Amino acid sequence: MLRFENVDLHYGSFRALQGLTLHAEAGELVVLLGANGAGKTSIFMAASGIHKPSAGSIRLAEREIAGMRTAQIVQAGLVQCPEGRKLFPMMTVRKNLELGAYVHRGDKAGIRRSIDEVFGLFPILEKKQNDPAGSLSGGQQQMVAIGRAMLGRPKVLLLDEPSLGLAPLVVKQVFEVIQRINQAGTTVLLAEQNAFSALSIAHRAYVIERGRITLEGDRDSLLNNEAVRAAYIGA
Ligand SMILES: Nc1ncnc2c1ncn2[C@@H]1O[C@H](COP(=O)(O)OP(=O)(O)OP(=O)(O)O)[C@@H](O)[C@H]1O
Ligand SMILES: [Mg+2]
Repeated sequence: MLRFENVDLHYGSFRALQGLTLHAEAGELVVLLGANGAGKTSIFMAASGIHKPSAGSIRLAEREIAGMRTAQIVQAGLVQCPEGRKLFPMMTVRKNLELGAYVHRGDKAGIRRSIDEVFGLFPILEKKQNDPAGSLSGGQQQMVAIGRAMLGRPKVLLLDEPSLGLAPLVVKQVFEVIQRINQAGTTVLLAEQNAFSALSIAHRAYVIERGRITLEGDRDSLLNNEAVRAAYIGA
């Protein structure tokens, strides 16, 4: 469904992604593990067309998307939920959600349906739909950010560190919903430092270090890998 082959990404002369190759099959939930600065966000920025790769190929359902504009990439079915949520705090929850449907803006009935689906996933957002997004708790704001991405009707959903800064109980709720979104058919790439929670819901995972894949495997092989446990999980 999504395939990176030998992708390089540069910021000026700095090579943030170095011949990166990875894939996610339709229906998979694939986790990207990596320390600060490893390149997780850069992978998503390349996929979303926000930073153009300097080499390699990125294919979404067999269609080359490297070099396409972000709006076209969203239209093709790849939607990113960015690190740090990036909501508009003064706008209502509902308006923030609607912004995710920009590429479907002609389809008002479809947007209402998608919003109802998001309210089904996150009932608290229905209650708070007319409140400014900035007045919500961190966990609720993360729910809005995921909901906004769902309004883009992703085939492939990229989630960049959704658990960042959230209390453990809220992390659990957010990961349960991510799993439900995946089980309903959306392919998910999940970048996380919270390795244990992320691997718990994953099919497969990659470890990224300095812009390269250094390890890959299914959930159990990574959960039981000593290097992964030492670096990302702890005792
Ligand atoms: N816009 C930019 N300009 C220059 N360098 C950048 C830019 N964005 C990222 N980098 C550098 O690229 C490398 C990879 O960064 P990236 O944000 O992809 O890592 P990450 O794995 O998402 O890290 P984190 O866990 O902190 O979010 C880092 O060395 C970072 O400093
Ligand atoms: Mg990042």
